[in-house]
Amino acid sequence: MRKIIIDTDPGHDDAIAIMTALANNDQIEILGITTVAGNQTLDKVTDNILRLEEVLNVDIPVARGFDRPLVKPLDVQPQAHGESGIDGYDFPETDKKAIDMHAVEFMKETVEKEDKITLVAIGPLTNVAVFLRMYPHLISKIDSVVIMGGSVYAGNILRRAEFNIYHDPEAAKIVFGSGAKVVMCGLEVCYSASILFTEIEEFKGQGKISDMFYGLMKFYSGYAIRKGWDRTAIFDATTIIWLLHPEYFEVKEMAVDVELNGKHTQGMTVCDEVWHGDIVPATVLLSADREKYVQVIRDAIHTLDERAA
Ligand code: BDR
Ligand code: CA
Repeated sequence: MRKIIIDTDPGHDDAIAIMTALANNDQIEILGITTVAGNQTLDKVTDNILRLEEVLNVDIPVARGFDRPLVKPLDVQPQAHGESGIDGYDFPETDKKAIDMHAVEFMKETVEKEDKITLVAIGPLTNVAVFLRMYPHLISKIDSVVIMGGSVYAGNILRRAEFNIYHDPEAAKIVFGSGAKVVMCGLEVCYSASILFTEIEEFKGQGKISDMFYGLMKFYSGYAIRKGWDRTAIFDATTIIWLLHPEYFEVKEMAVDVELNGKHTQGMTVCDEVWHGDIVPATVLLSADREKYVQVIRDAIHTLDERAA
């Protein structure tokens, strides 16, 4: 059983990543969820995960993290995720509350208790960077830090920068340079595994969780529709599908550094096939078997439908 902590800013694709992990709880155990400001404010994204837990009828500890990047000001993304941070489904109110512990302290306590842990980071890397910086003696207990973020060539917020890294580039630089094994699920692999709009339609009316998935994806597809595409990436889910099925992916070991400045490049992950010194290369995912990837999502949502029935 792989034990993970998910650091997240839900977020439509964050929610789908979390649901994919929950549906595969015979292989993955989520020990906790830590929240970070990114797609929306810390209050909103924390509320979103608690409401999602209410819908899914699960009780995973949620710990609040940082409400802003290390250096830059907060820059939320309502155009992609709406005012709530997860528009498109009417989430119920909940009495669930975050635990009374900072995300970084939760990571420390949890990693200390376990033999090995995987950190799955699907928002800006603020919490993870501070954790790795504060407790470097725990890095040897981390199997890998699997991040959704960065790219080899592309950009989605600047011409050459992906949102999670752009939002807190200083944090990302700390994480890539920490000595921890990083797996980078960047834009290229996520785009290669995009779900077709016609495939999204197939979820409609299939069950309670399918309907939630459908509502969320209809809103979330707005960005891709405005671009004239016929499909959309479910970025954050790539991290979980990598953990479940590494054989679905083409990967390359690369040295990754982060550009901190630049009109078109702030937050760019500079990926190099050649490296010098003792830098720990990252495993960079380049492409995925799209059909198999989408099937994992389908199976996960239908499993959760059955549990909710
Ligand atoms: C990333 O940015 C966020 O908007 C998504 O949730 C994902 O983590 C994609 O660039
Ligand atoms: Ca995210």
